[in-house]
Parts: sequence; structure tokens; C-alpha cells
Amino acid sequence: MVSKVLNVKLSNGREMPMVGLGTYARKADPGQFRQAVEWGIEAGYRHIDTASFYDNEEEVGEGINNKIKDGTVTRDQLFVTTKIWNDRHAEGQVVPSLKESLARFKLDYVDLYLVHWPFSVNDKGEDANIDYLETWRGMEQTVQLGLARSIGVSNFNEEQLERLLNNCTIKPVINQFEVNPTLTQHKWVDFCKQHAVVPVAYTPLGLISEARPEFIGKDVIKTDPKLGALADKYGKTRAQIALRYLIQRGIPVIPKSFTKSRIAENLNLFDFELTDSEMALVDSFNINHRCVPANAFKGMKNYPFKNE
Ligand SMILES: NC(=O)c1ccc[n+]([C@@H]2O[C@H](COP(=O)([O-])OP(=O)(O)OC[C@H]3O[C@@H](n4cnc5c(N)ncnc54)[C@H](OP(=O)(O)O)[C@@H]3O)[C@@H](O)[C@H]2O)c1
Repeated sequence: MVSKVLNVKLSNGREMPMVGLGTYARKADPGQFRQAVEWGIEAGYRHIDTASFYDNEEEVGEGINNKIKDGTVTRDQLFVTTKIWNDRHAEGQVVPSLKESLARFKLDYVDLYLVHWPFSVNDKGEDANIDYLETWRGMEQTVQLGLARSIGVSNFNEEQLERLLNNCTIKPVINQFEVNPTLTQHKWVDFCKQHAVVPVAYTPLGLISEARPEFIGKDVIKTDPKLGALADKYGKTRAQIALRYLIQRGIPVIPKSFTKSRIAENLNLFDFELTDSEMALVDSFNINHRCVPANAFKGMKNYPFKNE
């Protein structure tokens, strides 16, 4: 099957599909990650996002390798992203950490390796105070060794990204952070684009899918009739409107689902276009609400959301 998913060009000349399959889950049954990846590739996804922290690289790799073996895709048609966790930030730990991920995947390289967070932790969970510039030197080695095709960051703030851009040999091509209709991040998205760093939206469905009780009352986006009417106009769901809104802003998205129909739904975004006033309507739901504040790390020196 020919993938209809459009690509975005990275600053190093490589391309990345605008829609990827997210794979983070707090809880999963055995085989669920593998199954989601297989359904994803069958549905046309060519970009899979995971992380060593998600503890699913074996299953994600199994799903990928099954779909390569059965002829659905070739390795070079896929874009695989993983991330280094906060406890492996010393320069000498970066290459070994990626090699361990690759062994779990049973793959020779990843397309994108990300620094998951700008802070580091030691084995007691305390701040290890390793400068992310040191980590970045290890990240650069992964490219030089051919283990990662591209490197980037996640959850870096403006000051951290600018400092990295001014002190690197290989530039980060991506910053992955939370963006959705209730956390629209215009200033930050523009900053990344101006510096040729592609902003990638994690938790792109935000409060549309978030079921945590502490968010009840903030999630009017789930029931608002104007958004419902907009979805009906195009025969789409609220989730598809949210994803289309991000793509039209030039922001790649990585929605996660374990549900076969939703996996397909989240890729079915390329047969309609929101008008300027419809984009403004989706934008009007912004309440600067973070679904992923990473509160457990608030005490870290390089916690990125301190100034909010
Ligand atoms: N870099 C980072 O620090 C970071 C942080 C968070 C996330 N991420 C990445 O970004 C990915 C996506 O973020 P996320 O998983 O937090 O949130 P998300 O993709 O916005 O939402 C996932 C949730 O939405 C549900 N869902 C999926 N499609 C739906 C649809 N069409 N309609 C209604 N509900 C739908 C899923 O349920 P079912 O599975 O039951 O269908 C799941 O509960 C992650 O999986 C991970 O790969 C990265």
C-alpha cells in the first residue's frame, strides 16, 4: 500500500512523516504494543514513536520486524524514533544506551534519537546535574557511528534549545513537546521553526482524550457544540479535527492508540482542510493546560517548565 502521509523536511535534508504512531501507555496487556504497531503499519503509518522509558522497545521492534518480514514495508520506508532516558545522560552512556535500544528492537539503526528531557537523574532518582551539552556530545557520536540518522530533543524550553543550538556540532532537527488545542504554544512553535527545529506534537489529542478525574471541568472541548458542528461538517471526529489543526500549523503529530479503528482514524486527515476561521475556532480552546507537567521532576535544576 502506498502511504498517503505527507512528510516534513528536516534541517539535515532527511524527511519525516507528518503523522506517527505514539506508543506510550501506563498499562498494557502483553502483545498490545506489537499489535498496535502492526495495525499502524497496515493502516499506512510509516513513523513510530517510542522511548526506552516506555519499556516496549522489544514489542515495538517485533511489530516492525513482522511487517518487514511479511513484505508490507521495507526498513527504509519506516521512520523509527526512540529516546534516551534521564538516567543515561553522561556522555559515555549515550552510545551504549542506544545500542541497548537497538538490540531490543532488533534493528541496526533508528531514524531519530531524542534526549527525552533536559534534566538527568541518578540511580536514587535525584538530580544528577549532568549538563545536556555533555549528553549532546554522546548524541552526536550516535550519528557518527551510523546508529541514529538524526538526533533531536524533547521537552527543552526556549533557553535550553537556544543554548544547545549555540553549542553543538550536529544541530537538533526536532523538539518534541506537548501541543494540542488546549495548549497551543504559538510562541514556542514559532521559535522552533525560526531556528529550523521541527516542533513535534506529543499528547496531540490533549483534553479530548484525557480521562483523568483531575482534568474534569477543563475538558469542555469534549462537549463544546461549535466544535461538534465543525466535526460534523467534515464527517470527522473531534480527535481528527485536533490532529488536522496541528498538521495545518505545520506540526507533525504522534497520536497513540491501542484501538484498531482509532489507529486508522488518526491517520485519516488528508481529505479535508480547515478554513482560517475554523483554525481560529480550534485555537480558541487554548487554556495553556499541560496534560504532562512531569511534576515528579519539578525540583530538578533543568526542569523545563519552571517559568510557567
Ligand atoms: N516526549 C515526551 O515526553 C512524551 C510525553 C508524552 C507522550 N509522548 C509521545 O506522544 C504520544 C502521544 O501522546 P499521548 O499518548 O500522551 O496522548 P494522545 O495520543 O493525545 O492520546 C492518547 C489517548 O487517546 C485515546 N485516543 C486515541 N485516538 C483517539 C481518537 N481518535 N478518539 C478518542 N480517543 C482517542 C487513546 O485511547 P486508546 O489507546 O484506548 O485508543 C489514549 O487514551 C505518546 O504515546 C508518546 O509516544 C512523548
